[in-house]
Amino acid sequence: MIILACDHAGFPLKEQIKAFFNSENITTIDVGTYSTEPVDYPDYAKAGCERVLENDTNVGIFICGTGIGMSIVANRNPQIRAALCYNAKMASFARRHNDANVLVLPGRYMKKRTAIKTIKVFLTTDFEKGRHALRLKKF
Ligand code: RB5
Repeated sequence: MIILACDHAGFPLKEQIKAFFNSENITTIDVGTYSTEPVDYPDYAKAGCERVLENDTNVGIFICGTGIGMSIVANRNPQIRAALCYNAKMASFARRHNDANVLVLPGRYMKKRTAIKTIKVFLTTDFEKGRHALRLKKF
């Protein structure tokens, strides 16, 4: 399952991403926020992490203004590997080398087109394991 979380700054891009998934008949769980009314991103990062960790196959897409706050909060959880990605190349490495289970996007600095490209790569790229798995064990 794909878990969406955002704050007010990430809300407009989150809505565009949700519309994309709907158009592809892909179900998502949206833990909020649900408007541009100012909120605190840690509340939504925590809510998103809880849902991601309900199942090993879940992935999160978290969005705040820069992506930085969501990343910092999400990565405090030892089971979460959240990667702030500004393009598809970063998303590819986040999956191949880091086995990231949360993609974080910068809502104020990313257009829908780049976001969708980045998400598609994130969702279709496998972890390479091997030496990268050994590194993950050292976390
Ligand atoms: C909200 O103004 C902004 O601080 C937040 O969306 C995010 O960028 C924090 O890292």
